[in-house]
Amino acid sequence: MRENIEIRKEVEADHASIRTLTEAAFEGRPYADGDEQDVIDRLRRNNTLTLSLVATQEQVVIGQITFSPAIVGDASSPWFALGPVSVLPSRQGEGIGSALIETGLASITNMGALGCILTGDPNYYRRFGFRLSPGNSPENEPEEYFQLKLLGDQRPMGKFVFDRAFYEDV
Ligand SMILES: CC(C)(COP(=O)(O)OP(=O)(O)OC[C@H]1O[C@@H](n2cnc3c(N)ncnc32)[C@H](O)[C@@H]1OP(=O)(O)O)[C@@H](O)C(=O)NCCC(=O)NCCS
Repeated sequence: MRENIEIRKEVEADHASIRTLTEAAFEGRPYADGDEQDVIDRLRRNNTLTLSLVATQEQVVIGQITFSPAIVGDASSPWFALGPVSVLPSRQGEGIGSALIETGLASITNMGALGCILTGDPNYYRRFGFRLSPGNSPENEPEEYFQLKLLGDQRPMGKFVFDRAFYEDV
């Protein structure tokens, strides 16, 4: 990753850039729903955007990562979902995505997270310690892409639920 790339929490002035970036990153991807940018807006609106980090270079947003609460069991424990995560197409493959994921995981660990879930390509997320966990996969997600990374010594009991902002225009 090049020098002078900063990773920081989003501020209001980043919202429009995050939309544009997310749309561009997911455009044409076979696994994209096409509403990834809307999911981030909905999480923000519903106060379930636990953490949004941006990668910037010379004040330009070139990457972003989203974390939201993930529900399992009695819903009182701090589990989180990672995603969407995006890097500007012209800047992919430079380590920016990895830096956002590692910084984000460190942040939620500091917040007391027991673990993190996501739906994504296992070949990519394996390097960050995510493992397939079909027994914990939400009913409405493909279990061959559902992954979990434990951040403490507790294991989740049962199936997770992602925030409703992932599915509904709420
Ligand atoms: C996924 C994404 C955030 C990764 O960011 P990045 O800055 O390009 O990633 P890094 O430079 O840190 O890592 C690059 C490595 O990831 C690999 N990689 C990137 N996307 C991958 C994918 N979908 N599946 C498997 N490997 C992937 C690259 O081949 C490269 O591998 P290498 O280190 O062995 O050479 C970025 O490619 C992106 O925005 N993609 C479009 C949106 C998206 O798919 N988001 C994730 C949805 S689950």
